[in-house]
Amino acid sequence: RSMSLITCCYSLHIIFFPPQSHHASRTLLYKKTFVESFEETPLLVAVLTYMGYGILTIFGYLRDFLRDWKLEKCHLAREREEQKDFVPLYQDFENFYTRNLYMRIRDNWNRPIRSVPGAKMDLVERVTPDYNWTFEHTGKVLKDVINMGSYNYLGFAENTGTCADTASECTEKYGVGVCSTRQELGNIDKHEELEKLAARFLGVESSMVFGMGFATNSMNIPALMEKGCLILSDELNHASLVLGARLSGATIRVFKHNNMQSLEKLLRDAMVHGQPRTHRPWKKILILVEGIYSMEGSIVRLPEIIALKKKYKAYLYLDEAHSIGALGPRGRGVVDYFGLDPCDVDIMMGTFTKSFGAAGGYIGGKKELVDYLRLHSHSAVYATSMSPPITQQIITSMKCIMGEDGTTLGELCQLSENTTYFRRRLHEMGFIIYGNNDSPVVPLMLYMPAKIGAFGREMLKRNIGTVVVGFPATPIIESRARFCVSAAHTREMLDTVSIT
Ligand SMILES: Cc1ncc(COP(=O)(O)O)c(C=O)c1O
Repeated sequence: RSMSLITCCYSLHIIFFPPQSHHASRTLLYKKTFVESFEETPLLVAVLTYMGYGILTIFGYLRDFLRDWKLEKCHLAREREEQKDFVPLYQDFENFYTRNLYMRIRDNWNRPIRSVPGAKMDLVERVTPDYNWTFEHTGKVLKDVINMGSYNYLGFAENTGTCADTASECTEKYGVGVCSTRQELGNIDKHEELEKLAARFLGVESSMVFGMGFATNSMNIPALMEKGCLILSDELNHASLVLGARLSGATIRVFKHNNMQSLEKLLRDAMVHGQPRTHRPWKKILILVEGIYSMEGSIVRLPEIIALKKKYKAYLYLDEAHSIGALGPRGRGVVDYFGLDPCDVDIMMGTFTKSFGAAGGYIGGKKELVDYLRLHSHSAVYATSMSPPITQQIITSMKCIMGEDGTTLGELCQLSENTTYFRRRLHEMGFIIYGNNDSPVVPLMLYMPAKIGAFGREMLKRNIGTVVVGFPATPIIESRARFCVSAAHTREMLDTVSIT
């Protein structure tokens, strides 16, 4: 197999770049080896993949033609007869991909689950009478499917155990809903308890929690940035960050994924040229990055980003949705992983939907920042606050990670062992896998469109639930299966998955 491995190793001892090069000083920023691989798509595979899409597109046009001539039944949303003269509400061309490509493999997504998203789960069996346009439940349940897709990194998403018990006690006392915003009657003592705990966990002065992770990004970035400000955003940032950046009205410039030269060029240009036309200095510059990128399994080059942000006096917003709990010797995310000072990140954001097995998000940082957001964030002022049992689930799981519940948490070590083992197994078997050696998100490259559906279906036949991803979530020739390793997986489960 031809291999062009773009591997970067940084350590105090292992430096792969010539000493006089620009990279040498960067390597000193890292206290540990940093190995990340993104193997190039082999040429033959790329050609076959494009051919696959080409054939699907030709068939798509053919079927659209048959639908237009009413030779094939059309299941699509259609313009109403009396609105024929209107500009079409459903743009045909935009839906081409969904109609003709996604529909063929739609059975791989939105499968109803009938259990906790633990290491194993139960799936509702369904059949389609019309080639994936609609589904019917057969009444049967697929039991004990190995779950390789949920973000349950530490195994806290369970319905038994301390987290579930304390959440259920909390429900008895507070109920499930708060029916008000934080600023009105939705500020319960549990929220304040969680915020103090989260601030300690993150090593920051203060924190605020929100009912939804997505809204934490999309509603807080606009509270901090406005017209005349500049946002420098990684090209692979999550949709919630992109939406927040757009809603803010600030100018957005995108740098190549985790590419420090690309980021530095944008920072330098911003300093030299200022705002377009007026050339006034930007009011503020904010760098937006994630801890672990959930489609690539890559880890942000945080030490270099911090060095750049200090050099150019920009602010840094770090989304730790996938890294909090899952990375670092103490599970405190990417800052802990690199052994950095949390104060060097201006805005620490994360979600409780992954490692904590709960819901919602947080912002952590200086007290002034958090106090400002309490008054100005739409999410704080207009949205109902976090549900009490959810708050309790987070408090209990966070205390567990911090070792404050009197136990020593083996899950962090287990997750790291499972990640290393599973990645090594797949690599040894010759699969092309992406990302950082320490990332529990493991993308296995499938490339060809036909393989997306086939892989998901064949794995399910063998009682393994996986997430398969294709365009537009990935570049067109980089379809993949995305495994999420959990501390709850046993060696036997990981062996079953890799052998299958
Ligand atoms: C990086 C990132 N940020 C934010 C979110 C949104 O969080 P939530 O799903 O908790 O609303 C996600 C969700 O997967 C994410 O991956």
